[in-house]
Amino acid sequence: MPTSIPDISAAIQRLRSGGVVAFPTETVYGLGADALNQQAVRRVYDLKGRPSINPLIVHVSGPEMAARLVSAWTADADALAKMFWPGPLTIVLPRVVGTGSRQTAPAFVLPDLVTAGGATVGVRCPDHPVALALLFGLGSPLVGPSANPSGGISPTLASHVAESFRPEDVMVLEGGACRAGIESTVVSLAGDRPRILRPGLIGAGEIAAVIGRPVEEGPTAHAPGAPLSSPGLMARHYAPSTTARLVDLSEIADALREVGSQGRTAAVLTHRAFEVRPPHHMLLLPNDAEEYAFHMYAALREADGLRADVILIARPPGANGTWGAILDRLTRATTK
Ligand code: TXA
Ligand code: MG
Repeated sequence: MPTSIPDISAAIQRLRSGGVVAFPTETVYGLGADALNQQAVRRVYDLKGRPSINPLIVHVSGPEMAARLVSAWTADADALAKMFWPGPLTIVLPRVVGTGSRQTAPAFVLPDLVTAGGATVGVRCPDHPVALALLFGLGSPLVGPSANPSGGISPTLASHVAESFRPEDVMVLEGGACRAGIESTVVSLAGDRPRILRPGLIGAGEIAAVIGRPVEEGPTAHAPGAPLSSPGLMARHYAPSTTARLVDLSEIADALREVGSQGRTAAVLTHRAFEVRPPHHMLLLPNDAEEYAFHMYAALREADGLRADVILIARPPGANGTWGAILDRLTRATTK
């Protein structure tokens, strides 16, 4: 069980000895391990059941630590970090090659496993006191994929993490409910043009305004055999174990009738209330995008726990900004 007051020193000790510690961030809980320890990183892939072609993001205490992981900490990266860090933005840059000849602090050389053999690394400084305490205490970077089995629903509570992993494998630090509830925006500065690889609470427009040039949206195509250029290429993700469908609000009543006529039950996830009679269930989510994001994963878990035959999710009322990030997750959660 997670303790109520996180024992930071014990957690740092675990990390130093190659152990895995789940930690809260402002987005979702991360499955943390020493990013410079290949065995520890391997353990994270194994525990998640994550394909080794999908790179891990690296959490840092700030720009100084980030700069030691990349071949060049550019003016754009620095401007973005100044504006949005600590916060829900992951910045992808070419990773450091060799130990370099640095006048400042020496490079952090990552095991290839972290970046799935790729030439870039995603770095992020999380906005949560517990995560920052770990990073400052350790003094070196932490890998931190979301603390869920690969493809499943991201955890926004310590108890979600504890449901998925054994305590002897993962120490879980309590940090309350994650404030944002949806994973960071991933922006790549590694190509010719800045590009959003995963939408999140920080939009392309906000990023473009800071760096003063346009930001492309959506990942590029994936070359066979190459490490995944983007999380966007995993079509099914964030998924409950119950079959889930994304349905227009106006069509939910018909869909429910159909499910009922087959003698099956549905759990309806909706931002707009309407009549749902037993044996079906209705879980009502807020109509505001930020609040919806905050509750979304917990609601998906709850719907999954109802053991209905199908989860019907009402298509959210928008497709831009935070609604766009939500729609991205719901689309993947409902992809077969
Ligand atoms: O909010 C978050 O980002 C959370 C918290 C814990 O910080 N972490 C998280 O990690 O969502 P993860 O591994 O579940 O998602 C990071 C995504 C992955 O799907 C991965 O494909 C992508 O970022 N990614 C990591 N490194 C990359 C790289 N070098 N180039 C492109 N995409 C990368
Ligand atoms: Mg994830």
